Amino acid sequence: MTPEQAHRYRRLEDHQESYHRLCQQVEKAPWRQSYHIQPPAGLLNDPNGFCHDGLTYHLFYQWHPLDAVHGLKYWRYLQSNDLIHFQDQGIGIAPDSIYDNYGAYSGSALYENKHLLIAYTGNHRDTNYQRIPYQLLAEFDPETKTLKRHSPFLNGAPKGYSEHVRDPKIWREGKDLYAIIGAQRTNQTSALLLFKNNELQGEIELGLQNFGYMLECPDYFQIDDFDIITCCPQGLEASKERFHNIYQAGYFIGKWIRENNNFQHQGFQEIDYGFDFYAMQSCQNAQGERLMIAWLGLPDTHYPSDQDGWQGCLSLVRKLSIKNGKLYQSPVESIHKLRKHFLPQPKNLTQGEILIENPQNTPFCLHFFANEKQHTRLEFDGNTLYFDRRQSGALPEIIANKKTANKGDHLRQINIDVKHAQLFLDNSSVEIFINHGEITLSARLFPAQNANAIHFQSQSAQISAWQY
Ligand code: FRU
Repeated sequence: MTPEQAHRYRRLEDHQESYHRLCQQVEKAPWRQSYHIQPPAGLLNDPNGFCHDGLTYHLFYQWHPLDAVHGLKYWRYLQSNDLIHFQDQGIGIAPDSIYDNYGAYSGSALYENKHLLIAYTGNHRDTNYQRIPYQLLAEFDPETKTLKRHSPFLNGAPKGYSEHVRDPKIWREGKDLYAIIGAQRTNQTSALLLFKNNELQGEIELGLQNFGYMLECPDYFQIDDFDIITCCPQGLEASKERFHNIYQAGYFIGKWIRENNNFQHQGFQEIDYGFDFYAMQSCQNAQGERLMIAWLGLPDTHYPSDQDGWQGCLSLVRKLSIKNGKLYQSPVESIHKLRKHFLPQPKNLTQGEILIENPQNTPFCLHFFANEKQHTRLEFDGNTLYFDRRQSGALPEIIANKKTANKGDHLRQINIDVKHAQLFLDNSSVEIFINHGEITLSARLFPAQNANAIHFQSQSAQISAWQY
């Protein structure tokens, strides 16, 4: 292990003082969010264990407490009643077993018998620094915040797969417990593994020639009569409008034929057209609604806030629905609780909501987080929507390697009609919902402190805003 690796795998329990110093540094940092989930210090990545017990939502996130880099991962735990206000509950899972000695990696949860049944990947490394992934089930008590691990239901990689096997998402069908897990075959192609009652059933066949070299954070659910698989493939080539981020986040919608495990679909579609959206995870609440949350970030990327000791935040929770065979996302209704002042002609905004009404589909140009030198641009020319953060201030940067060449530009173009846009600005992010959730575009933004102006031009589109 190199000294740098040793640094990344320091245990929080052994470095309390450095952690408190880091927290103090982060308290003074710019770009801290006002209504998005963010780590007290260190790095946040995937949402984990998202579930509902009928009253309370339970949510965790991947967390490396001691530095804004990917290192020894804990699960940090939160609770919420409205999906807008979250109460931080401290550490949920500490990587304190032999199975997860190099991190409690991503996974999911179900609320059952007053406990959370958690499935996650223990990232184990042996004395030669060889990775061995363990798939674990455990019971988490939300009162005492204690975890009882069962012995792993999968030790290491099954035959034919590399060390990259992780991120179980579990659900029940009657008494049966199902799981899907992201994997890499030994021939460096991605695969989706299906488990039933802890037994490997084989792969879910997606019928694609080339679907990258790895697939992370899969999820499966149904809405109406549609089967949906969401996942994050790595290694897809960029094409005209698609797949420009370093790694992808998207979905298949169609029919899962159980007899032969074929998933019939119309192709893989991006779930968000912005720059920072990954590792989404869904849960179903007691009302039967399907809710999704994601990491507003990407792996293998430096973010401008790293220098201040923190990185990453989660997205707003989004409600999923299907209209005309398409997956729609809308912010949860309780977001209205954050609205403080209505601004009929907004001139400045850093925390709040911008609404654009454009029933006639006419061109418009919006600049936000603007000062004399900087702005983020959302422009519609009647055919194409442009989302441009090239002049937004400090920018995230890919940690380059061969596999990431030609990725990570800062301009997106999508052909779509735009009759309505709703933007959620926080101090260092924006989430944009077009046509009430037909598509979304999300990004981290790192503007100068005085870049808070809004400029809007259009013949007929109308703008208004809410200050939060
Ligand atoms: C996705 C991911 C997962 C893994 C976790 C580790 O961002 O790489 O595949 O479980 O992060 O933090």
